[in-house]
Amino acid sequence: MENATQILTNEHKDILKVTRALSNECDEIESGKAIDRDFFFKAVDFIKNYADKFHHAKEEDILFVELCRDEAQMHCNPTQQMIHEHDMGRSFVRGLEEGLRQDNKAKIIGNARNYSQLIQEHIFKEDNILYPMADEALNQKSKKSILEKFKKAARILKKNIHLLQKNLKKENDHGIFQKRKVRFKGEEWILLVPSSQFAGFCTAIYSYTGNNNRS
Ligand SMILES: [Fe+2]
Ligand SMILES: [Fe+2]
Repeated sequence: MENATQILTNEHKDILKVTRALSNECDEIESGKAIDRDFFFKAVDFIKNYADKFHHAKEEDILFVELCRDEAQMHCNPTQQMIHEHDMGRSFVRGLEEGLRQDNKAKIIGNARNYSQLIQEHIFKEDNILYPMADEALNQKSKKSILEKFKKAARILKKNIHLLQKNLKKENDHGIFQKRKVRFKGEEWILLVPSSQFAGFCTAIYSYTGNNNRS
């Protein structure tokens, strides 16, 4: 049977690419490079719409809920700490957005570095401690239920991507969506993003276009 925690670990690999790109960008700014606002807006967009609304949502609303059931008998259940770290990440992203609005270099770098560091450590804990604990603690019935809910979330994401792509074709008619190629330090992504007047109409969806051999 497919493993739900393995699905999450695979998603971590894409999130890590973005956090590393954020750290590298901060290094370059500190070495004299000008702030690339577009890069930070794209990074924030990815973090909010993929890392948080898709990946963290699956953890908080599906996996952690199962782990907190009595049947799971998780000793020293670390899910509260993980949720706390998700919240800390959200506050660093808010700080980063604020820094961008205020054109405050120190605030941009400080929050980007804090987010990057936090999430890299968070992912290490999940991959090496929480997920193995979950694999051990959950029974087959729970694992099956998590997997089904994950598949449903992936279907919704896929449907949204399809919808966005369909609408993208109408881009010239309505100007709703813009398709942008995004490069994060050598990795290429396609970003479908609603144009500013439709911001909030739907979320931006990224599809990684690099080779499938994720590292
Ligand atoms: Fe997490
Ligand atoms: Fe995670």
